[in-house]
Amino acid sequence: MRSALLTLLCFTSAALAANLNLVKEYSGSGFFDEWDYYGHWDDLTNGNVIFVNKTDSTSLTYVTPSGQAIVAIDNTTFVPANNPRNAVSISSQDYFEIGTVFVIDVARLPWGCSVWPAIWTRGNGDWPATGEIDIIEGVNRMTFNQMALHTSPGCSAATGTDQTGSPSANTDCSPLSGCTVKENKPNSFGDDFNNNGGGVWAMQFDVSGIFIWFWQRSEIPSSITGASSTTGLDISAWGPPSAAWPSGPSCNISEHVSAQQLVIDITLCGDWAGLNTTYAQTCDNSTYNACYLTNVQYQGTYTDDAYFAINYIRAFAASNATVVPESMINGTSSASGASGASSTGTPPVTISSGASSASSGLSGSPTGGAGSPTQTGGALGSTYVPAILAGVAGVLVITGLSF
Ligand SMILES: *[C@@H]1O[C@H](CO)[C@@H](O)[C@H](O)[C@H]1NC(C)=O
Ligand SMILES: *[C@@H]1O[C@H](CO)[C@@H](O)[C@H](O)[C@H]1NC(C)=O
Ligand SMILES: *[C@@H]1O[C@H](CO)[C@@H](O)[C@H](O)[C@H]1NC(C)=O
Ligand SMILES: *[C@@H]1O[C@H](CO)[C@@H](O)[C@H](O)[C@H]1NC(C)=O
Ligand SMILES: *[C@@H]1O[C@H](CO)[C@@H](O)[C@H](O)[C@H]1NC(C)=O
Ligand SMILES: *[C@@H]1O[C@H](CO)[C@@H](O)[C@H](O)[C@H]1NC(C)=O
Ligand SMILES: *[C@@H]1O[C@H](CO)[C@@H](O)[C@H](O)[C@H]1NC(C)=O
Repeated sequence: MRSALLTLLCFTSAALAANLNLVKEYSGSGFFDEWDYYGHWDDLTNGNVIFVNKTDSTSLTYVTPSGQAIVAIDNTTFVPANNPRNAVSISSQDYFEIGTVFVIDVARLPWGCSVWPAIWTRGNGDWPATGEIDIIEGVNRMTFNQMALHTSPGCSAATGTDQTGSPSANTDCSPLSGCTVKENKPNSFGDDFNNNGGGVWAMQFDVSGIFIWFWQRSEIPSSITGASSTTGLDISAWGPPSAAWPSGPSCNISEHVSAQQLVIDITLCGDWAGLNTTYAQTCDNSTYNACYLTNVQYQGTYTDDAYFAINYIRAFAASNATVVPESMINGTSSASGASGASSTGTPPVTISSGASSASSGLSGSPTGGAGSPTQTGGALGSTYVPAILAGVAGVLVITGLSF
């Protein structure tokens, strides 16, 4: 991996002035062909869901006649009290080396009380040592997107960065919440995003840094709408990104973020959306377990708002050598490892919302510092707990990666 990386540094620098080539596209009828389905209850963020396996996913991931990829919450099953609802978490079977620019065109995002969707990337192996980049993420009735970078210690967000979003006060990317940036452009999440026809995100993963842009539908640059396998992609006129973590003295991105795979998921409640304080911020109810009790059980509240409609996800790079099949990545990913796992284990359904156990341990750790999540700097006190850290800290029983 290391030598591959160094080789790619040259590619990347050379590519800056030139158009990048389309090296991977997820779209149309084949959108879901090359993803792993988690196949396990949400032990990543303690949401009240079973992330179903591929066999059970047919009503939750599918392509519409017009070619949009749908990723949905189960909104038809009657869920008995204290049981989880079916949902999906999928991860790309390819990893993408540094030097990749992702373009994600989304027509609809899931939103609403208890709903916690994300489109993000993660490295293979230990979290957060291999890096995690949250491109699209929000909970409940939030009206803006929140982006984040998660790394091992030794990487912090530079100050005075040329970005249009608002970084959280915490600049260290290694604590549980990572270093977050709140989107300031309008219509980046929730009902407004959907009613506005959606929009496009681009994420550049480069030796020069990690950068995320967002454009609402009417403002998508022609360099993106006109990009094709023959023209490639020119990012030179995009202007300042919404979020930027430039490589420099505060963080060497090459050393902190390894090849990334894409992840798309929706969970319900859990360690962020279900936190008492977080849930009450936009859903006006801080009674015990309100997130689960009000939304998840019985017929549920997931009518027409709890699904992604994705037009495409594309990856551009100087060379398709940046696309690495998971079979070539050493150490099988947790996702593929878990795909064969049984989902018959016992998920801690009743408790996870509001996370009775979580609220004490978790909300102290993220952006807000001790006590409660905070909106300072715009970040809604997200709470991310990797298994490893949680286990060490004895805080919570969470295994695996987090958002
Ligand atoms: C960042 O790390 C890479 C890989 O170790 C190294 O080649 C590069 O020189 C570093 N960049 C800076 C600015 O230190
Ligand atoms: C708050 O949640 C509880 C538990 O689900 C529910 O009984 C109550 O009706 C909710 N209150 C409001 C105002 O939504
Ligand atoms: C259930 O979700 C689907 C998306 O998967 C949506 O099209 C449908 O309208 C929803 N059903 C109801 C009754 O709202
Ligand atoms: C990379 O591009 C070459 C030349 O177009 C092609 O032959 C090869 O199959 C591609 N590899 C992948 C993994 O897409
Ligand atoms: C992959 O990882 C295993 C265990 O860490 C190691 O024994 C093996 O040598 C590695 N293989 C390669 C090709 O790096
Ligand atoms: C998928 O999950 C269901 C429900 O847990 C299980 O019955 C089934 O055996 C699984 N299928 C595969 C192929 O793992
Ligand atoms: C949630 O808030 C309610 C009312 O403020 C409180 O009674 C309950 O103990 C809280 N639950 C947790 C898990 O913090």
